[in-house]
Amino acid sequence: MSSEQNYDDLIAEHYRNVAEQEGSKSTSTMADIITREKETRAIVDFVGDSLRRRKVENNQGSAVIMDVGCGNGYTLEVLANKYPKEKFIGVEKTKELRELAISRFENEERVLIMEGDIRDSNFATDSIADTLICQRVLINLLDENDQKEALKNIVHAVKKPNTWQSGGTLLFLESFSSSLTKLNTAREEFDLPAIKPAHHNLYLQDNFFKIPELKEFVTDGCIVQPNFLSSHYYITRVLHPIFIKDKPVKRNSEFVNFFTYALQENVGDYSPVKLYVFERTEKA
Ligand SMILES: C[S@@+](CC[C@H](N)C(=O)[O-])C[C@H]1O[C@@H](n2cnc3c(N)ncnc32)[C@H](O)[C@@H]1O
Repeated sequence: MSSEQNYDDLIAEHYRNVAEQEGSKSTSTMADIITREKETRAIVDFVGDSLRRRKVENNQGSAVIMDVGCGNGYTLEVLANKYPKEKFIGVEKTKELRELAISRFENEERVLIMEGDIRDSNFATDSIADTLICQRVLINLLDENDQKEALKNIVHAVKKPNTWQSGGTLLFLESFSSSLTKLNTAREEFDLPAIKPAHHNLYLQDNFFKIPELKEFVTDGCIVQPNFLSSHYYITRVLHPIFIKDKPVKRNSEFVNFFTYALQENVGDYSPVKLYVFERTEKA
Protein backbone atom coordinates (compact mmCIF):
# COMPACT_ATOMS: atom_id res chain seq x y z
CA MET A 1 0.00 0.00 0.00
CA SER A 2 1.22 3.53 -0.65
CA SER A 3 2.01 5.60 2.42
CA GLU A 4 -0.35 8.37 1.25
CA GLN A 5 -3.85 7.23 2.00
CA ASN A 6 -5.26 10.52 3.06
CA TYR A 7 -8.22 9.98 0.73
CA ASP A 8 -9.61 7.11 2.83
CA ASP A 9 -11.81 9.35 4.98
CA LEU A 10 -13.27 11.05 1.93
CA ILE A 11 -14.17 7.71 0.30
CA ALA A 12 -15.51 6.27 3.55
CA GLU A 13 -17.74 9.27 4.14
CA HIS A 14 -19.04 9.24 0.57
CA TYR A 15 -20.09 5.58 0.72
CA ARG A 16 -21.49 5.88 4.26
CA ASN A 17 -23.86 8.51 2.88
CA VAL A 18 -24.67 6.35 -0.15
CA ALA A 19 -25.55 3.42 2.15
CA GLU A 20 -27.77 5.65 4.28
CA GLN A 21 -29.57 7.27 1.34
CA GLU A 22 -29.94 4.37 -1.09
CA GLY A 23 -30.02 1.28 1.15
CA SER A 24 -30.32 -1.91 -0.89
CA LYS A 25 -31.63 -0.24 -4.07
CA SER A 26 -30.10 -0.85 -7.52
CA THR A 27 -29.56 2.91 -7.75
CA SER A 28 -26.98 2.72 -4.93
CA THR A 29 -23.75 4.17 -6.41
CA MET A 30 -25.44 4.45 -9.83
CA ALA A 31 -28.37 6.83 -10.10
CA ASP A 32 -28.77 6.30 -13.84
CA ILE A 33 -31.18 3.39 -14.32
CA ILE A 34 -30.21 2.67 -17.95
CA THR A 35 -26.49 2.59 -17.15
CA ARG A 36 -27.12 0.16 -14.28
CA GLU A 37 -29.31 -2.01 -16.50
CA LYS A 38 -26.75 -2.14 -19.32
CA GLU A 39 -23.85 -2.79 -16.96
CA THR A 40 -25.74 -5.60 -15.22
CA ARG A 41 -26.68 -7.21 -18.52
CA ALA A 42 -23.05 -7.08 -19.68
CA ILE A 43 -21.86 -8.68 -16.42
CA VAL A 44 -24.49 -11.44 -16.57
CA ASP A 45 -23.48 -12.24 -20.18
CA PHE A 46 -19.77 -12.22 -19.31
CA VAL A 47 -20.29 -14.62 -16.40
CA GLY A 48 -22.40 -16.83 -18.68
CA ASP A 49 -19.60 -16.94 -21.27
CA SER A 50 -16.99 -17.66 -18.59
CA LEU A 51 -19.08 -20.55 -17.25
CA ARG A 52 -19.61 -21.96 -20.73
CA ARG A 53 -15.88 -22.03 -21.33
CA ARG A 54 -15.32 -23.83 -18.02
CA LYS A 55 -17.80 -26.45 -19.12
CA VAL A 56 -16.11 -26.90 -22.49
CA GLU A 57 -12.85 -27.49 -20.61
CA ASN A 58 -14.60 -30.16 -18.56
CA ASN A 59 -14.45 -28.27 -15.29
CA GLN A 60 -17.30 -29.81 -13.31
CA GLY A 61 -17.40 -28.18 -9.83
CA SER A 62 -19.07 -24.92 -8.89
CA ALA A 63 -17.25 -21.82 -10.12
CA VAL A 64 -16.22 -19.13 -7.65
CA ILE A 65 -17.36 -15.72 -8.85
CA MET A 66 -15.92 -12.78 -6.94
CA ASP A 67 -17.23 -9.21 -6.99
CA VAL A 68 -14.61 -6.82 -5.57
CA GLY A 69 -16.08 -3.61 -4.16
CA CYS A 70 -19.50 -5.26 -4.31
CA GLY A 71 -21.31 -2.34 -2.65
CA ASN A 72 -24.74 -3.30 -1.33
CA GLY A 73 -24.60 -6.64 -3.20
CA TYR A 74 -27.15 -5.79 -5.90
CA THR A 75 -25.14 -7.31 -8.79
CA LEU A 76 -24.26 -10.40 -6.76
CA GLU A 77 -27.94 -11.04 -6.11
CA VAL A 78 -28.76 -10.83 -9.82
CA LEU A 79 -25.89 -13.24 -10.56
CA ALA A 80 -26.74 -15.66 -7.75
CA ASN A 81 -30.33 -15.88 -9.02
CA LYS A 82 -29.26 -16.34 -12.62
CA TYR A 83 -26.55 -18.95 -11.88
CA PRO A 84 -27.90 -21.14 -9.05
CA LYS A 85 -25.10 -23.74 -9.13
CA GLU A 86 -22.18 -21.36 -8.58
CA LYS A 87 -20.56 -19.85 -5.50
CA PHE A 88 -20.13 -16.12 -4.98
CA ILE A 89 -17.82 -13.94 -2.91
CA GLY A 90 -18.34 -10.23 -2.39
CA VAL A 91 -15.44 -8.14 -1.07
CA GLU A 92 -16.36 -4.74 0.32
CA LYS A 93 -14.38 -2.18 2.32
CA THR A 94 -17.18 0.14 3.46
CA LYS A 95 -18.80 -1.28 6.59
CA GLU A 96 -22.25 0.19 5.95
CA LEU A 97 -22.46 -1.17 2.38
CA ARG A 98 -21.01 -4.51 3.46
CA GLU A 99 -23.73 -4.87 6.10
CA LEU A 100 -26.41 -4.23 3.47
CA ALA A 101 -24.84 -6.92 1.26
CA ILE A 102 -24.65 -9.38 4.17
CA SER A 103 -28.31 -8.84 5.04
CA ARG A 104 -29.28 -9.53 1.40
CA PHE A 105 -27.82 -13.04 1.61
CA GLU A 106 -28.79 -14.10 5.13
CA ASN A 107 -30.43 -17.30 3.87
CA GLU A 108 -28.08 -17.97 0.97
CA GLU A 109 -25.10 -20.18 1.76
CA ARG A 110 -23.64 -19.87 -1.73
CA VAL A 111 -22.81 -16.19 -1.19
CA LEU A 112 -20.10 -15.02 1.18
CA ILE A 113 -19.58 -11.31 1.83
CA MET A 114 -16.27 -10.36 3.37
CA GLU A 115 -14.37 -7.32 4.48
CA GLY A 116 -11.43 -6.44 2.26
CA ASP A 117 -9.36 -3.64 0.77
CA ILE A 118 -8.07 -4.27 -2.76
CA ARG A 119 -4.88 -2.39 -1.86
CA ASP A 120 -3.95 -5.30 0.47
CA SER A 121 -2.02 -8.07 -1.29
CA ASN A 122 -4.14 -10.76 0.40
CA PHE A 123 -7.46 -8.89 0.34
CA ALA A 124 -9.31 -12.06 -0.70
CA THR A 125 -7.81 -14.05 2.21
CA ASP A 126 -6.55 -16.87 -0.04
CA SER A 127 -9.81 -17.33 -1.97
CA ILE A 128 -9.19 -17.84 -5.67
CA ALA A 129 -11.80 -16.74 -8.17
CA ASP A 130 -12.66 -18.43 -11.46
CA THR A 131 -14.29 -15.20 -12.53
CA LEU A 132 -13.89 -11.73 -11.05
CA ILE A 133 -15.88 -8.54 -11.46
CA CYS A 134 -14.62 -5.07 -10.61
CA GLN A 135 -17.32 -2.48 -11.25
CA ARG A 136 -16.25 1.16 -10.72
CA VAL A 137 -13.86 0.40 -7.82
CA LEU A 138 -10.30 1.12 -9.05
CA ILE A 139 -11.34 4.72 -9.74
CA ASN A 140 -12.04 5.10 -6.01
CA LEU A 141 -8.32 4.77 -5.29
CA LEU A 142 -7.18 8.37 -5.57
CA ASP A 143 -3.52 7.52 -6.10
CA GLU A 144 -2.13 6.06 -9.34
CA ASN A 145 0.29 3.75 -7.54
CA ASP A 146 -2.51 2.37 -5.39
CA GLN A 147 -4.52 1.70 -8.55
CA LYS A 148 -1.62 -0.23 -10.12
CA GLU A 149 -0.96 -2.16 -6.93
CA ALA A 150 -4.65 -3.01 -6.56
CA LEU A 151 -4.78 -4.29 -10.15
CA LYS A 152 -1.93 -6.69 -9.37
CA ASN A 153 -3.68 -7.85 -6.20
CA ILE A 154 -6.92 -8.38 -8.10
CA VAL A 155 -5.17 -10.44 -10.78
CA HIS A 156 -3.54 -12.59 -8.10
CA ALA A 157 -6.96 -13.40 -6.67
CA VAL A 158 -7.87 -15.10 -9.97
CA LYS A 159 -7.06 -18.65 -11.05
CA LYS A 160 -3.91 -19.16 -13.15
CA PRO A 161 -4.08 -21.30 -16.29
CA ASN A 162 -2.71 -24.86 -16.20
CA THR A 163 -2.09 -27.58 -18.79
CA TRP A 164 -5.77 -28.48 -19.04
CA GLN A 165 -7.61 -25.29 -18.24
CA SER A 166 -7.49 -21.62 -19.24
CA GLY A 167 -6.89 -18.91 -16.67
CA GLY A 168 -9.78 -17.31 -14.80
CA THR A 169 -11.67 -14.40 -16.35
CA LEU A 170 -11.95 -10.79 -15.23
CA LEU A 171 -14.36 -7.99 -16.09
CA PHE A 172 -13.62 -4.35 -15.36
CA LEU A 173 -16.04 -1.46 -15.68
CA GLU A 174 -13.93 1.60 -14.98
CA SER A 175 -13.68 5.24 -16.16
CA PHE A 176 -11.01 6.63 -18.48
CA SER A 177 -9.72 10.21 -18.83
CA SER A 178 -9.40 10.13 -22.62
CA SER A 179 -13.11 9.37 -23.10
CA LEU A 180 -14.06 12.16 -20.72
CA THR A 181 -11.98 14.51 -22.89
CA LYS A 182 -13.93 13.31 -25.97
CA LEU A 183 -17.22 13.89 -24.18
CA ASN A 184 -16.15 17.40 -23.17
CA THR A 185 -15.11 18.18 -26.76
CA ALA A 186 -18.65 17.22 -27.84
CA ARG A 187 -20.11 19.44 -25.10
CA GLU A 188 -17.90 22.36 -26.07
CA GLU A 189 -19.44 22.40 -29.57
CA PHE A 190 -22.65 23.58 -27.86
CA ASP A 191 -20.98 25.78 -25.24
CA LEU A 192 -21.75 23.31 -22.48
CA PRO A 193 -19.24 23.49 -19.61
CA ALA A 194 -16.70 20.70 -19.17
CA ILE A 195 -17.59 17.86 -16.82
CA LYS A 196 -15.00 16.92 -14.21
CA PRO A 197 -14.62 13.54 -12.51
CA ALA A 198 -16.47 13.34 -9.18
CA HIS A 199 -14.37 14.28 -6.14
CA HIS A 200 -14.16 10.61 -5.13
CA ASN A 201 -12.85 9.38 -8.51
CA LEU A 202 -9.48 9.23 -10.26
CA TYR A 203 -9.93 8.17 -13.89
CA LEU A 204 -7.55 5.69 -15.54
CA GLN A 205 -5.13 6.10 -18.45
CA ASP A 206 -5.82 4.14 -21.66
CA ASN A 207 -2.93 1.70 -21.15
CA PHE A 208 -3.88 0.87 -17.55
CA PHE A 209 -4.78 -2.78 -18.23
CA LYS A 210 -1.77 -3.48 -20.46
CA ILE A 211 0.06 -5.82 -18.09
CA PRO A 212 1.56 -9.25 -18.90
CA GLU A 213 -0.74 -11.03 -16.42
CA LEU A 214 -3.81 -10.17 -18.53
CA LYS A 215 -4.84 -11.00 -22.07
CA GLU A 216 -8.08 -10.29 -23.87
CA PHE A 217 -10.89 -12.76 -23.12
CA VAL A 218 -12.03 -13.83 -26.55
CA THR A 219 -15.45 -15.44 -26.72
CA ASP A 220 -18.00 -16.05 -29.43
CA GLY A 221 -20.68 -15.13 -26.89
CA CYS A 222 -22.49 -11.83 -26.68
CA ILE A 223 -20.24 -9.60 -24.55
CA VAL A 224 -20.72 -5.96 -25.49
CA GLN A 225 -18.00 -3.65 -26.86
CA PRO A 226 -15.89 -1.52 -24.46
CA ASN A 227 -17.79 1.61 -25.59
CA PHE A 228 -21.27 0.11 -25.06
CA LEU A 229 -22.35 3.17 -23.02
CA SER A 230 -21.07 5.73 -25.54
CA SER A 231 -24.36 6.67 -27.21
CA HIS A 232 -26.13 6.81 -23.85
CA TYR A 233 -23.51 9.24 -22.53
CA TYR A 234 -23.79 11.40 -25.67
CA ILE A 235 -27.56 11.53 -25.20
CA THR A 236 -27.50 12.24 -21.44
CA ARG A 237 -24.53 14.64 -21.37
CA VAL A 238 -24.81 16.45 -24.74
CA LEU A 239 -28.15 16.01 -26.51
CA HIS A 240 -30.44 16.26 -23.48
CA PRO A 241 -28.72 19.36 -22.02
CA ILE A 242 -29.07 21.10 -25.43
CA PHE A 243 -32.82 20.49 -25.44
CA ILE A 244 -33.56 21.48 -21.86
CA LYS A 245 -31.38 24.62 -22.10
CA ASP A 246 -30.86 26.17 -18.64
CA LYS A 247 -33.18 23.86 -16.71
CA PRO A 248 -31.59 21.29 -14.39
CA VAL A 249 -30.93 17.92 -16.05
CA LYS A 250 -33.58 15.36 -15.08
CA ARG A 251 -32.17 11.86 -14.73
CA ASN A 252 -33.94 8.81 -16.13
CA SER A 253 -36.15 10.95 -18.40
CA GLU A 254 -38.42 9.73 -21.19
CA PHE A 255 -36.28 11.75 -23.62
CA VAL A 256 -33.16 9.80 -22.71
CA ASN A 257 -35.05 6.54 -22.56
CA PHE A 258 -36.34 7.05 -26.08
CA PHE A 259 -33.06 8.02 -27.72
CA THR A 260 -30.92 5.47 -25.89
CA TYR A 261 -33.07 2.61 -27.13
CA ALA A 262 -33.71 4.16 -30.57
CA LEU A 263 -30.02 4.45 -31.42
CA GLN A 264 -27.18 1.98 -31.80
CA GLU A 265 -25.49 1.78 -28.38
CA ASN A 266 -21.79 1.98 -29.17
CA VAL A 267 -21.28 5.02 -31.38
CA GLY A 268 -18.11 7.00 -30.65
CA ASP A 269 -16.07 7.16 -27.47
CA TYR A 270 -18.15 9.47 -25.28
CA SER A 271 -18.57 7.34 -22.18
CA PRO A 272 -15.78 7.55 -19.61
CA VAL A 273 -17.07 4.23 -18.23
CA LYS A 274 -15.76 1.40 -20.40
CA LEU A 275 -15.85 -2.35 -20.16
CA TYR A 276 -12.83 -4.63 -20.58
CA VAL A 277 -12.77 -8.41 -20.26
CA PHE A 278 -9.63 -10.45 -19.76
CA GLU A 279 -8.34 -13.85 -18.84
CA ARG A 280 -5.40 -14.43 -16.57
CA THR A 281 -2.14 -15.53 -18.23
CA GLU A 282 0.51 -17.79 -16.70
CA LYS A 283 2.80 -14.79 -16.01
CA ALA A 284 3.88 -14.09 -12.41
C1 LIG B 1 -18.85 3.00 -7.30
S1 LIG B 1 -19.07 1.85 -6.00
C2 LIG B 1 -19.53 0.42 -6.92
C3 LIG B 1 -20.21 -0.61 -6.09
C4 LIG B 1 -20.66 -1.83 -6.90
N1 LIG B 1 -19.55 -2.43 -7.59
C5 LIG B 1 -21.75 -1.41 -7.84
O1 LIG B 1 -21.48 -1.23 -9.03
O2 LIG B 1 -22.87 -1.19 -7.37
C6 LIG B 1 -17.43 1.47 -5.46
C7 LIG B 1 -17.39 0.47 -4.35
O3 LIG B 1 -16.02 0.15 -4.06
C8 LIG B 1 -15.84 0.11 -2.65
N2 LIG B 1 -14.42 0.40 -2.39
C9 LIG B 1 -13.80 1.59 -2.46
N3 LIG B 1 -12.48 1.46 -2.17
C10 LIG B 1 -12.28 0.14 -1.94
C11 LIG B 1 -11.13 -0.63 -1.60
N4 LIG B 1 -9.95 -0.04 -1.43
N5 LIG B 1 -11.27 -1.96 -1.44
C12 LIG B 1 -12.49 -2.56 -1.59
N6 LIG B 1 -13.61 -1.87 -1.90
C13 LIG B 1 -13.51 -0.54 -2.08
C14 LIG B 1 -16.77 1.17 -2.14
O4 LIG B 1 -17.05 1.02 -0.79
C15 LIG B 1 -17.97 0.96 -3.05
O5 LIG B 1 -18.82 -0.03 -2.55
